[in-house]
Amino acid sequence: MDRFSLIETPLRDSFAQAVRAGLASRPRHVPPRYFYDALGSELFERITRLPEYYLTRTETAILEHYAREFPTAPTVVEFGCGFGAKTRLLFDAFFRARKTMTYVPIDISRRALEEATAPLLRSYPGLSVRAIQAEFEQAFELIPREPSLALFLGSNIGNLDHHDAVRFLSALRGRRALVGFDMQKDEQVLLAAYNDAEGVTAQFNLNLLARINRELGGDFDLAQWDHLAIYDPDASRVEMHLAARRDQEVHVLGETHAFRAGQRIHTENSYKYSMKQIRAIAAESGFRVERVWTDEDEWYAVVLLT
Ligand code: AVJ
Repeated sequence: MDRFSLIETPLRDSFAQAVRAGLASRPRHVPPRYFYDALGSELFERITRLPEYYLTRTETAILEHYAREFPTAPTVVEFGCGFGAKTRLLFDAFFRARKTMTYVPIDISRRALEEATAPLLRSYPGLSVRAIQAEFEQAFELIPREPSLALFLGSNIGNLDHHDAVRFLSALRGRRALVGFDMQKDEQVLLAAYNDAEGVTAQFNLNLLARINRELGGDFDLAQWDHLAIYDPDASRVEMHLAARRDQEVHVLGETHAFRAGQRIHTENSYKYSMKQIRAIAAESGFRVERVWTDEDEWYAVVLLT
């Protein structure tokens, strides 16, 4: 049998619809999944290598130390498709414990799925790939029912508010899940990670406006917008916004949007957790926390839910 297959699903809502709806609502917002066009994905790659952005580095170190202790399963489902080092650390450990494995990566980008899995298929002869091109919520009915391990790493769960995180994990019930959580910590450390000195995160955030200009014929003047990252300790989340530098009018998709100086577009929430919050989310989703692996500072946790 062919070792690679791909299921494609139509995208549920388009960038145009999301932008139209998000700019019409109050507070104005655009969902963070639209950061990741080709340039946005490249900028995110650069973010993961910034000295201030401890998340990726810390998670990778945890995988490096402990992947051998992780459970394996005949089928491993991953939300987001793993690139490079992180996936290899996991796969090396999985293939030490078993000869064959089916990997089911889920991603909205068909190209990302193909490009991420081709080298893996070359490296691991026992590997089969059943890729799913879909938004995460569309993929739940498509993932295999056999005993499987779900991977939701990279603190991607942090983009979901409590309600959506519970809904997401509930859909995985009956499986085991390995989830990466970014933990609460000193506010200065958090803010630096989303306000790097080189300004890469600012470029990443502003690229959303550039993307609206490129793909939707918008006329945002990027020089008139500021990147803003703030920490809300009550919600325990870092928020990213784009803030208008002065009063202005912007045209997108045949509509005129008036902004006053200081007015914002909310572009991302990135939740930071306590162990208590992680246990609450797990319990509400029908899981329990089976094991937790962290770094010495407890800045980041990889949690096995059962
Ligand atoms: C990919 C959602 C984990 O929230 O830290 C990085 C995205 N935003 N810098 C995060 C992001 C700004 C990242 N996640």
